[in-house]
Amino acid sequence: MISIAKLSVHYSARYLFKEISFLINHNDHIGLTGKNGAGKSTLLKIISGLQEPDEGEIAKPNGLTVGYLPQEMEHQGGKTVFEEALTAFGELLELQNKINHLTDEVSHRTDTHTDAYMDLLNDMHDASERFSMMGGYDMESEVEKVLLGLGFMRTDFVRNTDEFSGGWRMRIELAKILLQKPQVILLDEPTNHLDIESIQWLEEFLKTYTGAIVLVSHDKIFLDMVTNRTIEIVSGKIDDYKANYSRYLELREERKTLQKASYDNQQKEIEHLEKFVERFKAKASKATQAQSRVKALEKIERIEIDEEDHAAMRFRFPEPPRAGAVVVDSKDLSKSY
Ligand SMILES: Nc1ncnc2c1ncn2[C@@H]1O[C@H](COP(=O)(O)OP(=O)(O)OP(=O)(O)O)[C@@H](O)[C@H]1O
Ligand SMILES: [Mg+2]
Repeated sequence: MISIAKLSVHYSARYLFKEISFLINHNDHIGLTGKNGAGKSTLLKIISGLQEPDEGEIAKPNGLTVGYLPQEMEHQGGKTVFEEALTAFGELLELQNKINHLTDEVSHRTDTHTDAYMDLLNDMHDASERFSMMGGYDMESEVEKVLLGLGFMRTDFVRNTDEFSGGWRMRIELAKILLQKPQVILLDEPTNHLDIESIQWLEEFLKTYTGAIVLVSHDKIFLDMVTNRTIEIVSGKIDDYKANYSRYLELREERKTLQKASYDNQQKEIEHLEKFVERFKAKASKATQAQSRVKALEKIERIEIDEEDHAAMRFRFPEPPRAGAVVVDSKDLSKSY
């Protein structure tokens, strides 16, 4: 459905990715992982079309619908929570407006026996039919279901979005994406803003989602519940496994063990050949044999071992100086919304 071909991104001299390629298929639920700064957010931005790659191509079919929840974003206020969530249904809302206009016009017309009036009635009928077929009558109950699922209370629905913290506004954005049901959902650390109940609700929602999902998360359980494929960004390349995160870790371990074993074997073979060459290269009777071993050495394709992430952090908190007996002294303090 989306083809990523030979994609490269670099900042100054450092490559974030170098010629990575993969396909996103219709029903793939992909967990995108990698250490901090590996380029997960950058990759999502590129797939969403908000950022251009330095080299390579992203091919999408025309009209493909993509919903993208960024890791951080700015919010516009001005609407209530319910109204804002409802904007997910742009086309249906327009249709609803049109129907309201037509209804209004019909009720004011007096030429009820003309063709023009009949045309108007037909238009209204068609629009209503379309509205109903597109699920217009379920729109509000869908909004309700998703908002409640993501932790909003009914009393929040009529509050202005400005009154909510950044984390809660992210939930509204997430709600809009889920309501739009795009063919591809890109989510950059959605669980950062959610409590346990909402995470569980989102898990259920995404698990049974019939479109494609690319999900960045540091929450292993969440990844395991939702994904059936794992792509890890490691040293500018990707590892791609048809498995959820836990299974992926096992497969990667197995792969590393195999890789290490073949590496050790190869090292032994190289050592053996080199010793032979070293010993016999000056000896006329063995010169040809030594030469053929030199050739063999040149031919060997050297196995490389994957770079491992051993990055670690250490903290030390110095003893704080003793605070005064009174930390805050307030009188008649108030705050209201
Ligand atoms: N415009 C830019 N110019 C220079 N470097 C950049 C730019 N944008 C991103 N980077 C660098 O690219 C790297 C990848 O950033 P990105 O946000 O994609 O990582 P990430 O995998 O999402 O990390 P995290 O887990 O912290 O969210 C980082 O080292 C970042 O500093
Ligand atoms: Mg990121």
